[in-house]
Amino acid sequence: MDSVKAAVESYPLDNSHARASDHHNARSELFDSFSFGRARALIELKGADCLEIGYGGGSFASWLVSEVGPDGTVLATDIVPMDIDKSPQLTVIQHDVVTEPIPGTFDFIHARLVLGHLAEQRKVLTKLIQALRPGGAMLMEEWWSPARGDLVAHAPSPEAADLYNTFSVKYGQAMRVDGTDRNWARSIHGAMMDDGLVDVHTEMRGASGAGGGVGARMQQASMAQLRTKLKDAGITDELFESVYKLLEDPQLVLLGGMMTSTSGRKPS
Ligand SMILES: C[S@@+](CC[C@H](N)C(=O)[O-])C[C@H]1O[C@@H](n2cnc3c(N)ncnc32)[C@H](O)[C@@H]1O
Repeated sequence: MDSVKAAVESYPLDNSHARASDHHNARSELFDSFSFGRARALIELKGADCLEIGYGGGSFASWLVSEVGPDGTVLATDIVPMDIDKSPQLTVIQHDVVTEPIPGTFDFIHARLVLGHLAEQRKVLTKLIQALRPGGAMLMEEWWSPARGDLVAHAPSPEAADLYNTFSVKYGQAMRVDGTDRNWARSIHGAMMDDGLVDVHTEMRGASGAGGGVGARMQQASMAQLRTKLKDAGITDELFESVYKLLEDPQLVLLGGMMTSTSGRKPS
């Protein structure tokens, strides 16, 4: 099996799935303004050479293109590249961040919800830090989740809360790639410091999400993408259908994961 095929198969949410865009669009609606604000506060992007790892639906890469202007560049990578608006500033490549060298050096490197899925996340972070130019900055963003099985703030009934909790524990098992650090979001800050970055800083963003809202739609899209894996993890068709429907009920309110956004700078 070639390495790209292996990477695609080990990543649970394949971009070639029909619901992948729904998933990317919902995440973009939930978190882009937070991620953009973090990047803007970190570095002058005008004229910068930027690397976006695992660009997914491409909203962050497209935003970077608009920020860098005519003198900057954006290299956007993914193991399964999706369509993205073309621009002279933008280069898109199919690239496996685990097995392939980082193609170049950069003023700014960003990845959101990519390394958390990779068993080799610590080594990949070091590789990315080595690709930062002196004075350059990086922003790594990952979910930090409270214990699965404890995400329900309100439910239409105690049975519905139990149903969601049972589902979410099994869902966590299905999403997990063997060897990944469950606490990766919380490990990044220390790892950046250990690798010599300065001004390391973490901010978090999270909010309640009700059934029928954008967070629930994101979860429904992921469920559809993961249907076979969820079955293997013991989620019966009945449980799947009940939770899918429950996610449309505004009486279900979840306190889900927090986007944990850690930045650091390479000394000049
Ligand atoms: C959860 S999505 C996040 C997409 C985007 N960063 C965002 O936040 O909207 C993870 C992305 O990482 C990509 N990916 C997974 N494994 C990868 C690898 N080994 N190398 C490069 N990209 C990878 C996936 O194809 C997917 O597009």
